Amino acid sequence: MCGIIGAVLIRGQVAPLIRQSLKRLEYRGYDSSGIATVEEGRIYIKKDKGKIDDIHRRLNFDLLPGVIGIGHTRWATHGPPSRSNAHPHIDCNNRIAVVHNGIIENYQELRESLVDRGHSFLSETDTEVIPHLIEEALQTTKGLDQAVGKILPKIEGSYAIAVLDTSGTSLVCARKESPLLLGLSNDGFYCASDVPAFLPMTRQIIVLEDEEIACLTTQGATLYQLSPKGKLFKLPPKSPTTVQWTLDMAEKGGYPHFMLKEIHEQPRVLRDTLRIKKAELQKFAEVMNNHQTICTVAAGTSYHATLASRYMFSQIAGRFLHSVVASESPEIIDTSLGDEAVIIAVSQSGETIDTIHAIKDLKRQGCTILVITNTIDSSITRLADSVLYTQAGPEIGVAATKTFVTQLACLASLSICVGEITGKQTHEEARHLLEELNQFPELLQSIIRNQESIVKETAQHYVAKPSFFFLGRGISRATAMEGALKIKELAYVHAEGYPAGESKHGPIALVEEGFPVVFVAPNDRTRRFILGNVMEMKSRLAQIITLCSGDDERLAELSDSVIQMPSNLSNAFSPIGYVVPLQFLAYYAAIQRGYNPDQPRNLAKAVTVL
Ligand code: F6R
Repeated sequence: MCGIIGAVLIRGQVAPLIRQSLKRLEYRGYDSSGIATVEEGRIYIKKDKGKIDDIHRRLNFDLLPGVIGIGHTRWATHGPPSRSNAHPHIDCNNRIAVVHNGIIENYQELRESLVDRGHSFLSETDTEVIPHLIEEALQTTKGLDQAVGKILPKIEGSYAIAVLDTSGTSLVCARKESPLLLGLSNDGFYCASDVPAFLPMTRQIIVLEDEEIACLTTQGATLYQLSPKGKLFKLPPKSPTTVQWTLDMAEKGGYPHFMLKEIHEQPRVLRDTLRIKKAELQKFAEVMNNHQTICTVAAGTSYHATLASRYMFSQIAGRFLHSVVASESPEIIDTSLGDEAVIIAVSQSGETIDTIHAIKDLKRQGCTILVITNTIDSSITRLADSVLYTQAGPEIGVAATKTFVTQLACLASLSICVGEITGKQTHEEARHLLEELNQFPELLQSIIRNQESIVKETAQHYVAKPSFFFLGRGISRATAMEGALKIKELAYVHAEGYPAGESKHGPIALVEEGFPVVFVAPNDRTRRFILGNVMEMKSRLAQIITLCSGDDERLAELSDSVIQMPSNLSNAFSPIGYVVPLQFLAYYAAIQRGYNPDQPRNLAKAVTVL
């Protein structure tokens, strides 16, 4: 998740304005930044690794000349943070500059064919193919807007781009599945990933839709519809809407807290993560398949993702995984594992010291280390033999939400890949599982739309309860544990996440009239046993809150509160969907108890102490 901005001013100097806008977009990514401007037929660029203020102190962005400019703050996806990977990127002749937010899925193929045609590349990014493609298109089309239109149908994946060239008369921007807004004022015209970029300049906003292109000049913004063949059709002018948000609200996308914003972002980041290249998964999967023992190490929510993955790997790939809590790893993992074992370390921050210690130790023992993380260039990546990146973007709320579902998506994709290699899944079956997985972004959208207000009411109903159980069987045990962790850390309510079948071996002793028990009960092969557990709790007068399939009348009938989930949600990957109402439950319980869910007490986003 990067931030982009483009501006065409009627007078004045654009660079200081772009720098300040980038600063307001820094919450979208902050590992490198850059600005390009154009004046008198020449493009000027300053960019580097690091935070915008530090780069500005070194390079002074404000000295860049001109009234047209583009800027970028990066959250690395392809290629580590470095000056060469920082945006803007240019063509061979330094005549075109581009900033991009999104992921180009077919960049490898595009890059190879551009190299064959004599183009030279300076970075490892997917973005750099864009200026080179435009360079070619400009040889046969008239004007930057036409050239941009011509190349966009060649790009698979997502993009929000802003482009300028040495003609110095316009700035062209376009989007597909990545956000892009236009801002209109008396002093200039702007495009940016998000509202905070514009706020001091204008509150008059136009939302650009997928496959629309805008050409900004000192005269205004002209909008075009892009045809599948790359032709541009002029659209009638759109009337801007006025945003009323304060800067603080705008950074949170209008939500009162980052956590709520991040819960709502889940469909999009999940879609981005499911775009991970098959070749990258294949590499991981083959390493896993070539080892006798597979262990996962992780902490907190990341541990819950690995716990869910045990079920996926055993049922989909026919492989048994040992899931170890990172801080316990030195005590539990046999020192004779050596090169027979592959370790999958999962950490959103890549800085959790327990996980780092565990893998240092296991590396010394000769184990192969595979890492799944959300943070490029984090400490954990330097210890890894291979890395897979989730595509959640920066998570600012202390509680992990969107990073959890993206970790699950990575692990689920891997389990399918390994399943195909081991022969547990035929090619056809694997394809079917992938189709099921790819439905989740849409399903999450509908869960968020349909369940948020119901869960909010449920939270209200149970808010005074001092203690909860969260129970699930099979893969839902991981979801239950994650639900309990969330409400514990945000609402400061005692909660135990437990395997439902195990609850009768002790925890049930606590249950008395009105004790709330949350059951995570998808309609999978564990459901008939869950019914028994529900009856056990009911007969002790517990209050039953159930997350179950929308068509599960029996469970609904037995429950005091029901949260109905889409009945077409795949059981193999159910935590990706079932965790969402539990995130809302924790969020609204925290709000109703008067706590700030973004900054729970005693917790830190990256825990760097043992
Ligand atoms: C819970 C939470 C923590 C982290 C844990 C591991 O909401 O955020 O439990 O999951 O500290 O962090 P990472 O994944 O960065 O290693």
